[in-house]
Amino acid sequence: MKKDVYHRMKYKSIAIDGPSGAGKSTLAKKAAEALGYLYVDTGAIYRTVGLCALRRGIAPDDHGGVVAMLGTFTLDLRHGEDGLQHMYLDGEDVTGEIRRPEVSMYASAVSALPEVRAFLMDLQRGLAQRQNVIMDGRDIGTVVLPGADIKIFLTASLEDRARRRWQELRERGMECDYASVLADMAARDENDSRRAAAPLRRAEDALLLDTTGNSLEQSFQLLLQTIKERLDP
Ligand code: DC
Repeated sequence: MKKDVYHRMKYKSIAIDGPSGAGKSTLAKKAAEALGYLYVDTGAIYRTVGLCALRRGIAPDDHGGVVAMLGTFTLDLRHGEDGLQHMYLDGEDVTGEIRRPEVSMYASAVSALPEVRAFLMDLQRGLAQRQNVIMDGRDIGTVVLPGADIKIFLTASLEDRARRRWQELRERGMECDYASVLADMAARDENDSRRAAAPLRRAEDALLLDTTGNSLEQSFQLLLQTIKERLDP
């Protein structure tokens, strides 16, 4: 097959990275709907591995224990007819449970292990080989899909991100105070950016979108316009 033909047939991939609470998943999901792309939330995959460790009583900093756990559970990702990404751990739908705040800390800890990242690589890349995707995470533009057609680094101030996450948790009926959400978010920022394996960082060719002070609709319009300009220049 001629190279140019291959390039035209290749599926499009859009990588959206950034810190927790920047609105990546909400915005990426809306953008995927608008473009008819599959939305892939890679944080949910790390959360499912974190939940597995939590359920089995493996301490998140027990490197050997977490690595030994890999391959002893099944993890599936399926998109329902609603277009939502559901996560299954050993066949059980854990889509709601992985959002619990203690699972966030486990996810952050297990995601620092290179063995966990390598274990999840094929699953993530495979999804992008079969359809047009918008994939969000921390290392999509830098490691998972370095050849992505469009790379975006989405961020906002720590306070804005904590406030949004706090509101989101309260809307889901979870009791929590703003100060502890802010402290958790600062700790996760630190973990996710300082780790040696695929730390959170902006790819050199990623566009920076800062949504501090924006409404969701303003951020969405900014994101969609940025993507459309680059898809059809
Ligand atoms: O996006 P999130 O908050 O649901 O992600 C949960 C954790 O998983 C987060 O602390 C960082 C980690 N993660 C990662 O290391 N790499 C990704 N591509 C996505 C998430």
